[in-house]
Amino acid sequence: MGKIALKDIYLPETATAVAIRQLTPTEKCFEFKLDSGKSLGHMPGQFAEISLFGIGEAPISISSPPHGEPTFEMGIRQVGSLTGALHRLSVGDKIGVRGPYGTTFPVTTAMKGKDILFVCAGIGMIPLRSAIKYVLSHRKEYGKIHILSGTRTPAFRLFSDELEQWGKVDGVRLLETVDQPDDGWKGNVGVITTLFSKISFDPKNTVALIVGPPVMYKFALLELRKLEMSYANVYVSLERKMKCGVGKCGHCQINGLYACQDGPVFRYSDIAETREAI
Ligand SMILES: Cc1cc2nc3c(=O)[nH]c(=O)nc-3n(C[C@H](O)[C@H](O)[C@H](O)COP(=O)(O)OP(=O)(O)OC[C@H]3O[C@@H](n4cnc5c(N)ncnc54)[C@H](O)[C@@H]3O)c2cc1C
Ligand code: FES
Repeated sequence: MGKIALKDIYLPETATAVAIRQLTPTEKCFEFKLDSGKSLGHMPGQFAEISLFGIGEAPISISSPPHGEPTFEMGIRQVGSLTGALHRLSVGDKIGVRGPYGTTFPVTTAMKGKDILFVCAGIGMIPLRSAIKYVLSHRKEYGKIHILSGTRTPAFRLFSDELEQWGKVDGVRLLETVDQPDDGWKGNVGVITTLFSKISFDPKNTVALIVGPPVMYKFALLELRKLEMSYANVYVSLERKMKCGVGKCGHCQINGLYACQDGPVFRYSDIAETREAI
């Protein structure tokens, strides 16, 4: 019985690419459909292990909100062998999927009834999109919403068509910035933390979700501390090299914590004292 269970956790199920669109020069959005016809059953913040036969497997965040259908979306940056091969997929091609795995943003618990601050830096937008879309489709259950988004250049804005729609929803304030503008950019220029001075929110009634490149966390957390926000109300998602995704191999350890099971979403107050976490 134990042996079968152990084998099962490494056994991917198949899914088919049903839509693929280019998001930026380096990222594509894939819509996959589980061949079983079942829903993936994820919640915002979780990831799945995606595999291609003969090439390998990698953890990828689920970027769509839960909706009970057998389809789900992923935004994938082309960096190496697996993600390169995924970028060469066509509609109708098959992949392997294990998951969903990991912890979730607290959309049904700590975030309920609160104002929400989303801090989406670079491809941090990919996992946060699932939470943003969840919150917008349950709009009445949350207070005011601030969405801060920052990218290197305007060409790297992810889900730019959706950003515009989100900014039009009642009670939602969307602010964007880029590190380097192009000729057509009329918005803010500077790193994402420069947007904090442009918004006002009640730190006692706000839950912040922050996802982005490792270097950004320290500065974003310092800004929130200056605004007297408690780290108990701040959630981050940490990326670590992963293999099994299910707490068996130890590859993703952060001082005794397993990023694949204790994370990837952590309440920051729980890891603020953990060396090498941020
Ligand atoms: C929980 C989690 C969620 C993720 N979500 C997404 C997502 O939504 N979209 C997305 O595009 N990527 C995501 N990633 C990163 C993704 O897993 C890696 O880019 C992928 O494993 C690279 O595989 P590869 O075979 O293409 O690259 P490889 O050929 O293995 O490596 C190419 C280069 O990328 C570096 N690299 C490999 N893996 C990682 C990693 N995990 N983190 C940082 N650098 C790495 C290598 O050091 C090397 O320099 C996530 C990672 C984690 C842990
Ligand atoms: S990836 Fe194997 S223990 Fe986390």
